[in-house]
Amino acid sequence: MSIYIDPAVATSLRGFEMPEKLGFGKVMAPVMFRAVCQDGCWSPGQLVPYAPLALDPAAKVLHYAQSCFEGMKAYRMQGGGVGLFRPERNAARMAHSAERLCMPAVPESLFMDGVRAVTAYCANLVPANSGESLYLRPFLMGTQPDLSVSASSSYEFYVIASPSEAYHPGNMRLWVEREDSRAALGGTGDSKVGGNYAASLQSIARLKARGYDQSLWLNPGNRRTVDELSGMNFFAVINGELHTPALNGSILEGVTRDSLIDLARELDYPVREREIDIDELLELVQSGRCEEAFACGTAAIVSPISVFGDGEREYTPAQAPGPVAQRLRAALLDIQEGRAGDPFGWMQAVEVADPSER
Ligand code: COI
Repeated sequence: MSIYIDPAVATSLRGFEMPEKLGFGKVMAPVMFRAVCQDGCWSPGQLVPYAPLALDPAAKVLHYAQSCFEGMKAYRMQGGGVGLFRPERNAARMAHSAERLCMPAVPESLFMDGVRAVTAYCANLVPANSGESLYLRPFLMGTQPDLSVSASSSYEFYVIASPSEAYHPGNMRLWVEREDSRAALGGTGDSKVGGNYAASLQSIARLKARGYDQSLWLNPGNRRTVDELSGMNFFAVINGELHTPALNGSILEGVTRDSLIDLARELDYPVREREIDIDELLELVQSGRCEEAFACGTAAIVSPISVFGDGEREYTPAQAPGPVAQRLRAALLDIQEGRAGDPFGWMQAVEVADPSER
């Protein structure tokens, strides 16, 4: 790792006090990683104290949303070490998102420098309680001050971190969103870009007022099949088999989704990636043949779904949490927190850095 460590990093880390209550994404680690790209050329990265950014008010990101991000975690492993979960998948997905928005990919080595440096220096901030972690948020944005609608010539890449609990602990009440779409056909649904989340906010505000937690998004092309939940992917257990919407261009390919599919097959649950018709799904819930449903994501881990609200009707799966969700959540956390072997080679150990040694 050839990055510059600002001498003020040690003071920032020394002055940090971990609050008792973490929540999700509320407490920010006192350091961050930064790298700049000018005309396609990346400068070496720097670890610096966490601080507000100075952005030109005409920066492209502020007007044309040229930005993408990732969500990933560093875990406290059994024995005290710290590990990253499948970080190369996040690097690859960020490159895909960047390409979609006409931004230069962050080279994998620079991406890894950033997440490893922040994790190594913040190792003491990785919580030890099961289900808690150091949530890492890499992001990339176009900074050129220029109001013409064209790709920026300058970019900044950051990695910030937040010691966090799971995003949505406990059961979730879902609202079947039949009016708005979070993504468009040919749009950015399979990229991790802020605009997808902005498009979900009005729906979330409406459903919260009705006592629900998250929108269940339907495919923007047919408004009939299930896509995802914005920050999470969707699974249903139907007649003992796991069903999840097949990737279709408007679903974000979740690293947790992919990992649960591998784990489920390993645990001998049949898995089907397919189009799931919403009316068929609600009927299966109603008849009891869909025994349980859950959402999954890096931030949320595995969140059982207790209710589907659709207009005036509610559909309630027999079990929330159900045995499959519980078993998969435990199996995943056992790998991430180092209680079990790592048959897929998903974990990458991070050597702890001592800031006083610099
Ligand atoms: C993640 O799981 O990392 C996400 O990006 C979800 C987040 C929007 C809360």
